Amino acid sequence: MCGIVGYIGHREAYPIVMEGLKRLEYRGYDSAGIALYDGTDIKLSKTKGKVADLEERVKEEITTEGTIGIGHTRWATHGVPNDVNSHPHYSNSGDLVIIHNGIIENYDSIKTELIKRGYVFKSDTDTEVLINLIEEVKKKQNVKLGKAVQLALNEVVGAYAIAVFDKNKPNEIVVAKLGSPLAIGIGDDEFFIASDASPFIEYTKNAIYLEDEEMAIVRRDKKIKIRKIKDDSEVNPSMQELKFNLEQIEKGGYEHFMLKEIHEQPNAIRDTYRGRLLAKEGIIRMAGIDDNIEKFLNANRIIIVACGTSWHAGLVAEYIFEDLARIPVEVEYASEFRYRNPVITEKDVVIAISQSGETADTLAAIKLAKSKGAFVFGVCNVVGSTIARETNAGAYTHAGPEIGVASTKAFTTQITVLTLIALKLAKANGSMSNSVFHHHLQELELIPEKVKEALKADEHIKKVAEIYKDAKNCLYLGRGYNFPVALEGALKLKEISYIHAEGYPAAEMKHGPIALIDEQMPVFVIATKKGHYEKVVSNIQEIKSRSGKIIGIVTTGDVDVKNVADHVIEVPETIESLTPLLTTIPLQLLSYHIAVMLEKNVDQPRNLAKSVTVE
Ligand code: F6R
Repeated sequence: MCGIVGYIGHREAYPIVMEGLKRLEYRGYDSAGIALYDGTDIKLSKTKGKVADLEERVKEEITTEGTIGIGHTRWATHGVPNDVNSHPHYSNSGDLVIIHNGIIENYDSIKTELIKRGYVFKSDTDTEVLINLIEEVKKKQNVKLGKAVQLALNEVVGAYAIAVFDKNKPNEIVVAKLGSPLAIGIGDDEFFIASDASPFIEYTKNAIYLEDEEMAIVRRDKKIKIRKIKDDSEVNPSMQELKFNLEQIEKGGYEHFMLKEIHEQPNAIRDTYRGRLLAKEGIIRMAGIDDNIEKFLNANRIIIVACGTSWHAGLVAEYIFEDLARIPVEVEYASEFRYRNPVITEKDVVIAISQSGETADTLAAIKLAKSKGAFVFGVCNVVGSTIARETNAGAYTHAGPEIGVASTKAFTTQITVLTLIALKLAKANGSMSNSVFHHHLQELELIPEKVKEALKADEHIKKVAEIYKDAKNCLYLGRGYNFPVALEGALKLKEISYIHAEGYPAAEMKHGPIALIDEQMPVFVIATKKGHYEKVVSNIQEIKSRSGKIIGIVTTGDVDVKNVADHVIEVPETIESLTPLLTTIPLQLLSYHIAVMLEKNVDQPRNLAKSVTVE
């Protein structure tokens, strides 16, 4: 949440920072701001609203010269989104300026102390408290900016990725990280700072990802210095090569990132199993599993921790692992797991699923599990992310950058990775015969083409969307492997169209939700041929006899559901465990079209952020 970006070097900072903010806007978009140093003074402009609003504001307010600059796009934690609470924030003297992603939990007590010493606060933010604490330490202890930042951070509790500069020393930016991500792009005598590498991908492929409790001073023409915040000891920077390009983070002709990402799924799924799934040879190769196979085979159980859509992928995985590999699985919301004093032993394997690899609750759940001796395996999309680094081993999803706030291709690629793992374990522990194993591999290999087929229903789905776009409530039903898909379908609709939607196991309907059904209520029912088909058809009859509107997600050529449903949307046939990879496609498209028809901001829905780095 919140995106930070900065530049120091020989180029004009403004276009780099502004373009960087646009790329990071998915992280938070209720306000934005920028600070530049023009050779004599800091020029600062900020506003409630989007980065586009900031661009307009900048034109009216400031000149944009300068080769050092920082910018921020905000997802509010402390203080409502307004101009004053937007970042950057000045210190009281006006010498220091800061951008911050995270939360300072003990800001209130520090603020009280600073007020006693004469500090005045304009905003309600924790960030303004932090910059004044840095100023106070700098003055009182008569130290340089880097030292002041280090000492001040030792007094705060919370999470941060910060960038600070001092107008009296405009040759350096001080950055620090704890809990929130911070990448530093290394160019020739220039440095780029950002919450992820997307703002600087066209300038350099070399980046350093700061670890927690590390800070760095980046100076023009000088080598980067990284130190531990706790004791000021020096750290050897470890450089990473960035593997993505600019094209991957642009819209590529689609109206929205979400639509682009929905359509990217055939390739994303293929990229995820490429090099791992060797269907002809009957092999699954995954280094993270191969190297730790005994841990999985000897595990008492697998605990999956995740949030949101990733949690839904975890629920699908529960069905896959138990059904195919006969390993007991529990799926937990990371936010509940971390606080409920769970029983975890060294015989447990924990799988943490996260697209961003930065979700605060998932990260905390990982730390807890590790502290109890469990082996923790990560399934992440963002390479080099905190969760990818914190886990004992892992597998990337290779979906490519997901920019739309509503997760789409991350979900299907997570299921792909989890399927590969389950199949590998099923083979290794003997729960699956060779022939069934081979059949699963072959079917998985066909999924990208089948997703393509499912995407062809787009025009038809648009028509269905037109009919139901004004619904106030919707119900999503599924059974077995497709129960989590019902949850995911409902989440997609509510988060981007703001229509209330609930997902339920189809048979649970009779235990309550059936009371909601009337002629106003669209019910999306996943009723593919494989998996409790007859039972779902009976559930559909029950809805029909109460005048509910049925939209069935069915297998191509289906007759029975077609006879009773108001509309059907077809997906190709596959084996039961893989149906979620197909049934989820029409539900993503439906939500997308409804949101577009309702003129909602599809890629940046209100109140949400792509990467939830606060608990
Ligand atoms: C929904 C969505 C969120 C995320 C959740 C976890 O479309 O995107 O529910 O799935 O915030 O995020 P990650 O997977 O990054 O840990």
